[in-house]
Amino acid sequence: MRLQGREVILGVGGGIAAYKSCELLRRLQDRGYVITVVPTPSSLNFVGAATWEALSGRPVTTQVWESVHTVPHIALAERANFFLIAPATADLIARLAMGRADDLLTNLVLASDVPKMIVPAMHPSMWLDPATVANVATLKNRGFIVMEPEVGRLTGDDIGPGRFPETTAIISTFDGMTGHKQDLAGKKVLITAGGTREAIDPVRFIGNRSSGKQGIALAQAARDRGAQVGLIAANCDVSHLKGVELFPVETTAQMQAALQKQFDSCDILIMAAAVADARPSEVASDKIKKVALSSIDLEENPDLLAEISARKSKQILIGFAAETKDHLQEARRKLEAKGLDVIYVNDVSGGAIFGQDTTMGTILIRNEADIAVKEVSKDALSNTLLDQAIRQLG
Ligand code: CTP
Repeated sequence: MRLQGREVILGVGGGIAAYKSCELLRRLQDRGYVITVVPTPSSLNFVGAATWEALSGRPVTTQVWESVHTVPHIALAERANFFLIAPATADLIARLAMGRADDLLTNLVLASDVPKMIVPAMHPSMWLDPATVANVATLKNRGFIVMEPEVGRLTGDDIGPGRFPETTAIISTFDGMTGHKQDLAGKKVLITAGGTREAIDPVRFIGNRSSGKQGIALAQAARDRGAQVGLIAANCDVSHLKGVELFPVETTAQMQAALQKQFDSCDILIMAAAVADARPSEVASDKIKKVALSSIDLEENPDLLAEISARKSKQILIGFAAETKDHLQEARRKLEAKGLDVIYVNDVSGGAIFGQDTTMGTILIRNEADIAVKEVSKDALSNTLLDQAIRQLG
């Protein structure tokens, strides 16, 4: 699928640093970018197409002669929002500077006018050669962002400028180019994650299959974009989360209390939690014996989102829905009934999505066309939803 604003072509040149781009790809995916890898044919000597296909989850081609009927160089170029070429060898830089189009990657670069960044890596003598210096200057003049290679030990014994920079440094420069860096700075984002549980007796509860992964991914994405994040976490493991204010809860009533305390000061509320719709009318103080377990009287829980939405002032509200049938119709109804700005609906028939790292569904926005989301990471979906929230905040 295409995620507007986050589609990246990762061009890989034929240098040993190609293996470091495997890690780079992963970290870019963590930040919500959706990557198509386009290696040069010679780079496959270092990292093969199978590795790139497995890591990106997308087909990998190096030549315009493959799948010609789909006109891949134009289709891919039209889809891309950004280019990141890492590593870029002296030869690849020369071919780009010349405007050559002798493999798929160089065709794409010519066919697309989106922002492009290059991460050179080569032996110092090649980096400092006047031909490379002139080619780099040409590319910079044409608007390419060219990262300076690091100074240090190369593959052999030589030391000098030419090393592939650390992944974090590449990502920080890339974020700077894409403008996705700190666009939530100064904003407070409140997120609920996991599933609430309602006690039946001291050992049993009514619960649901929410793993909390989506809410946690949202919290990380909002934090990485500079927001002050509060996470109301119901029965999910958040011990690894840093830089996020945590409010652990178990029951719907506890989640309601936490929401009421935190809501007024937030700019965006994202209700990713699966809230138990009902609770036992009475909680037994002793374990109920199985012979007495034929039925449990329930009473309805409040609809937390509908309730908080009535108090809304400036806030953007995003809800989630998990449906097994009529999912678009149901989601549209919930969008209206709960006073939401955006709702993301999963098709969970057959238990899909719960506990998985990827998701598929549809984003529904008030008075706008639906956006279909096919098989993306929960990180990528998080960033797309945050993009929507920012757009709505103005
Ligand atoms: N939600 C809520 N309080 C509830 C139930 C749901 O705040 N008691 C929120 C969820 O966090 C989610 C959205 O409302 O963001 C939709 O949840 P869902 O369970 O799909 O909706 P329900 O209103 O419970 O509808 P139904 O069970 O009839 O499908």
